[in-house]
Amino acid sequence: MMLKIWLHAILLFYGLFFNADGAFVGIIIGTDVSNLPSPTDIVAILRARQITHVRLFDADPHMLNALSNTGIEVMVSVTNEEVLGIGELPSRAAAWINKNVAAYVPSTNITAIAVGSEVLTSIPHAAPILPSAMSNLYKALVASNLNYQVKVSTPHSMDIISRPFPPSTATFNSSWNSTIIQILQFLRNTKSFYMLNAYPYYEYVKSNGIFPLEYALFRPLPLVKQIVDPNTLFHYSSMFDALVDAAYNSISALNFSGIPIVVTETGWPWFGGANEPDAAVENAETYNNNLIRRVSNDSGPPSQPTIPINTYIYELFNEDKRPGPVSERNWGVVFPNGTSVYDLNLSNSGSLGANSSTVFCIARPGADESSLRDGLNWACGPGQANCAAIQQGQPCYNPNTLQNHASYAYNDYYQRMHNSGGTCDFGGTATLTSDDPSHGSCRFTGSSNSSRGGQLPPAPGPVAPLSGSSRNVVFHFGTVVAVTATLFLLDMNFRFSL
Ligand SMILES: *[C@@H]1O[C@H](CO)[C@@H](O)[C@H](O)[C@H]1NC(C)=O
Ligand SMILES: *[C@@H]1O[C@H](CO)[C@@H](O)[C@H](O)[C@H]1NC(C)=O
Ligand SMILES: *[C@@H]1O[C@H](CO)[C@@H](O)[C@H](O)[C@H]1NC(C)=O
Ligand SMILES: *[C@@H]1O[C@H](CO)[C@@H](O)[C@H](O)[C@H]1NC(C)=O
Ligand SMILES: *[C@@H]1O[C@H](CO)[C@@H](O)[C@H](O)[C@H]1NC(C)=O
Ligand SMILES: *[C@@H]1O[C@H](CO)[C@@H](O)[C@H](O)[C@H]1NC(C)=O
Ligand SMILES: *[C@@H]1O[C@H](CO)[C@@H](O)[C@H](O)[C@H]1NC(C)=O
Ligand SMILES: *[C@@H]1O[C@H](CO)[C@@H](O)[C@H](O)[C@H]1NC(C)=O
Ligand SMILES: *[C@@H]1O[C@H](CO)[C@@H](O)[C@H](O)[C@H]1NC(C)=O
Repeated sequence: MMLKIWLHAILLFYGLFFNADGAFVGIIIGTDVSNLPSPTDIVAILRARQITHVRLFDADPHMLNALSNTGIEVMVSVTNEEVLGIGELPSRAAAWINKNVAAYVPSTNITAIAVGSEVLTSIPHAAPILPSAMSNLYKALVASNLNYQVKVSTPHSMDIISRPFPPSTATFNSSWNSTIIQILQFLRNTKSFYMLNAYPYYEYVKSNGIFPLEYALFRPLPLVKQIVDPNTLFHYSSMFDALVDAAYNSISALNFSGIPIVVTETGWPWFGGANEPDAAVENAETYNNNLIRRVSNDSGPPSQPTIPINTYIYELFNEDKRPGPVSERNWGVVFPNGTSVYDLNLSNSGSLGANSSTVFCIARPGADESSLRDGLNWACGPGQANCAAIQQGQPCYNPNTLQNHASYAYNDYYQRMHNSGGTCDFGGTATLTSDDPSHGSCRFTGSSNSSRGGQLPPAPGPVAPLSGSSRNVVFHFGTVVAVTATLFLLDMNFRFSL
């Protein structure tokens, strides 16, 4: 376990140095909209918001023309209606590439083709032909010498994963094994990526209250309700991370690796019917802003910490012409007149990660003393922070305050563990800061001035624990199936007497 964390820490540093591009958050432009703005107006909206990546559900010529010379990267889609024909006839794939891709690049920066939408679950009869549709399109790209700049993949729903929780045991529904194996072989051979549509909104609603809303919205959970995968001991600070890891683990259960996941759809509806209380503006605003913050920090999910989670938000405008429940028509973040439905700042995406310098985790000023003491004891005990420097006579002992000692311990824990899912929370007594808290000869872990040059040694076992005691109740993932929903409570009275 420690070795694994140590390796993750090393990989994180490589990730920061070599992933100069940073993760991006793009947006989907659905067009089932009665007063859809013109393509030129849509592009004006995108540019005003500094949006760098878009996904289209088709390959509309007017939209592709309007996107030319904007620098915006475009994912186009083969519609579900077109999949069968393209899978059966290579000539149809070639015609599709010529008409919808070759005709626009390089002035329109098309970088990916989504083949159908959730084909396995929405048009299962076409599933057997899907791998050949992908391969026919790829061959047509090769013929046009576009295969290096344009990737081919197909978006999957979470529904093909039978039990996403806990992520470590997730597998694809085995009735799809043979199709999925062919798809994964294709993605690996063509250096493409797995397209995942992941909606914590639906998983949360389906779970009937098993998971806290906070968890779906990326809000910090209290220390006593951390969600931990019982097999890997990874902390899942958000359901989004858990869903992405469920997909990574399903892929590796079929013995494939090295295929990155891109989240091709996620989001939260801001309005719903009387029976859809969670489709609300505050939740949508919280989810999407926290999503952007999460993706922009450039880390992957706990099992793949170095692979950023590039993501597309569903969606730019409300698609008021879609059928289904009220919420189905209320996922948009912008009104057709260009004003925001709620505050959403997409402009940091794609650049924040390039410059990420160390972030420190310290005790929140004014935090309650007894909670701080619990947090400190937890960090130096079960959290395995190296607390040697805050012992009497050591460089970080002074100032001899709970605030200072907790800051040191929280930060040491965080620097070692955040890459494998550890959070800066400590029962709400901790906060992140970019200001290096080091002072005098006291060097906080991760400080660029620390003698270790910012690299972390493996965490040793707990050192000379401080007095007091601490409690940590760990919630484990339940299996979320409609009828047999169960939540395991592990170690209800997991008490550390230090
Ligand atoms: C298109 O996007 C790719 C990937 O970000 C980038 O490397 C390339 O320079 C872009 N091409 C143009 C013509 O903007
Ligand atoms: C797996 O897929 C099959 C066919 O779509 C379906 O009948 C079955 O209920 C699914 N199993 C699970 C556990 O989701
Ligand atoms: C499908 O793959 C899973 C691993 O993900 C394996 O456990 C299962 O036996 C396979 N099922 C079939 C029908 O091949
Ligand atoms: C994956 O590899 C393991 C070890 O080689 C093997 O036992 C297992 O059957 C493989 N699983 C699948 C789904 O191919
Ligand atoms: C834009 O459209 C929204 C929704 O229809 C409306 O509430 C808002 O007043 C409009 N804003 C402007 C500036 O026209
Ligand atoms: C959006 O975020 C970026 C990066 O964090 C920031 O520089 C910019 O000021 C923000 N814009 C708004 C309107 O808040
Ligand atoms: C990015 O890092 C460079 C070098 O450390 C620094 O000069 C620059 O101000 C940083 N940019 C931002 C936006 O923080
Ligand atoms: C990035 O996000 C992950 C997942 O929420 C979190 O564990 C990690 O602490 C974050 N890193 C920073 C530097 O905020
Ligand atoms: C780190 O070192 C630089 C240069 O030696 C110095 O300017 C800076 O103040 C130091 N930072 C801290 C937090 O001590």
